[in-house]
Amino acid sequence: MCGIVGYIGKANAASILISGLKRLEYRGYDSAGMALLDDERILITKSTGKVSNLSEKARTNWSPELFQRATTGIAHTRWATHGPPTEANAHPHLDQSGEIALVHNGIVENYRALRSRLEGKGHHFYSETDTEVLAHLIGDCDKGDLFQAVCDALHQVEGTFGIAVLSSREPDRIIAARRGSPIVIGVGDGEAIIASDASAILAHTQRVMYLDDNDIANVTMDSVEIRDLNNVPVTREIAELGLDASATEKGGFAHFMLKEIHEQPEALTNAIRGRLDLQLGSSVLAGMGTSQRELAELSRVVMVGCGTSLHAAMVGEYAFEDIADINAEVQQAAEFRYRNPILGNRDFVIAISQSGETADTLAAVKEANQKGAFVMSLVNVVGSTIARETGRGVYLHAGPEISVASTKAFTCQVSVLLMMALKLGRGRRYSREEGMKLAREIESIPELVARVIGKNDLIADIAEGYTKDEHAFYIGRGPMYPVALEGALKLKEISYIHAEGYHAAELKHGPIALLQEGTPVIAVACDVPGKDKTLGNIEECRARGARILGIITEGDDEAAEVMDEFISIPRTHPLVATIPAVVALQIFSYHVARLRGCEIDQPRNLAKSVTVE
Ligand code: M6R
Repeated sequence: MCGIVGYIGKANAASILISGLKRLEYRGYDSAGMALLDDERILITKSTGKVSNLSEKARTNWSPELFQRATTGIAHTRWATHGPPTEANAHPHLDQSGEIALVHNGIVENYRALRSRLEGKGHHFYSETDTEVLAHLIGDCDKGDLFQAVCDALHQVEGTFGIAVLSSREPDRIIAARRGSPIVIGVGDGEAIIASDASAILAHTQRVMYLDDNDIANVTMDSVEIRDLNNVPVTREIAELGLDASATEKGGFAHFMLKEIHEQPEALTNAIRGRLDLQLGSSVLAGMGTSQRELAELSRVVMVGCGTSLHAAMVGEYAFEDIADINAEVQQAAEFRYRNPILGNRDFVIAISQSGETADTLAAVKEANQKGAFVMSLVNVVGSTIARETGRGVYLHAGPEISVASTKAFTCQVSVLLMMALKLGRGRRYSREEGMKLAREIESIPELVARVIGKNDLIADIAEGYTKDEHAFYIGRGPMYPVALEGALKLKEISYIHAEGYHAAELKHGPIALLQEGTPVIAVACDVPGKDKTLGNIEECRARGARILGIITEGDDEAAEVMDEFISIPRTHPLVATIPAVVALQIFSYHVARLRGCEIDQPRNLAKSVTVE
């Protein structure tokens, strides 16, 4: 969603801020803005739409000399929440004096009360945003020490924030703070970069400090001093990012989504490497931070997540029940805390999130912690809020996922969930022989996926036949049911075709009424238990004129026969098969969207990490 970049140093701040914002574009936004400090004045340029609009406007508004000489500034990409995406609502926002500028991610929940109090003191507001209220509040608290003013203001804020604050009265520092919305500070040589996401920092330095909740940092070009909101010093270690800037570039692919689809064999190898014990038929997941004995005592697995991560959890549900012989359930993270879940210390709660920043998943983690459950995370972004909040967890090691449509995160999530189920299962009733067999199948996942990617051209040809459709139905059963849901989500979010996923048996309970001559039904009918019933459901669709695209197992002539066309995936364990099956659907969606001329990596209205509830 929103993105923050701040720079203080000796270099050209405007260029650094713009290239930082460009690296944050993938998060999704609808307006952008930048404030530069020049000659003890704050100068602001804002624009709606893309960062390139902002860049052009800044070059028109500001002289080349100014553009060159300013060495301190803050910038923002905004995903509209309070008020539409207009220039007035874009950040940075100024306080009443015009001498303090603020960029903010998150939501000030009590902004109405704060605003009316400030209006009572004579403040005037030009935007509809909660952020402008926070800028005024900081200004109102400023009695000559910006750091103290930010502390005092944040004490009055209910809600979440990641902020960077600039004052023309104190030009040698930027103040940054966080609560529930990430802030990373890149520590360079005579310069510092503040960002909401490490991708904006990568090109400058590998050395970063992550702020914890309620940390506030005084950032100068030579130092970073961090305190808590009570002004007590705290120590945060400098960490190495360990990421190459090229990981956030397209590397010759037309889109990040295509690149990330193709990266899957490597990402999966990284997710699996060193985590399988082929001799014991088990897995080694140190991040789970528990012994086999403690695992054996768990009575239930509860997985929470949103979107694609929720679908991965649904595959995990089958895996835990089937392999680990333990009750497993999936809960939509947004609903979790409102239903007052019954949890205890024998419940194993797994929070699944690519970004590690999804607000609803984070809230679910907090609720599970509160109730004394055994909580861990399955997250891709190292150092993200959910990873830190859970303390224990397993990273995906999938590498940065830039495209809004999640691809490699899903396949890595499912792979790790399979390994977790295997570890739990081996402490229960899963035999060594069964474990060894499954471990070998898991080890082969990168190769299985590479074989499906090898069918890219065939799938692109098939996709041509679906570009004019406005509706599509996806069906599957067993672990292929969440695959159908994920296939439908991929198609709708990037091609804007209305696509719905259903359990194959569910169509005839209502949705079948929508089938007409030629309606596409994408049937995930791999040769796994329940396939025969799915083939029966396909016949029901055919009888009503539907056009069937099957995802089937290689060599399954019986399934091939009932399809109008099909994409085949290699034969493997039924749970493992969910991974190559979903890859076929990712590639299909990608080509349909490409042929329809859609903006694949940043679909309309969507954000990469959804940091509001
Ligand atoms: O970062 P997370 O995995 O927590 O994100 C959850 C969803 O927002 C995400 O999977 C979303 O549904 C993607 N756009 C799907 O492609």
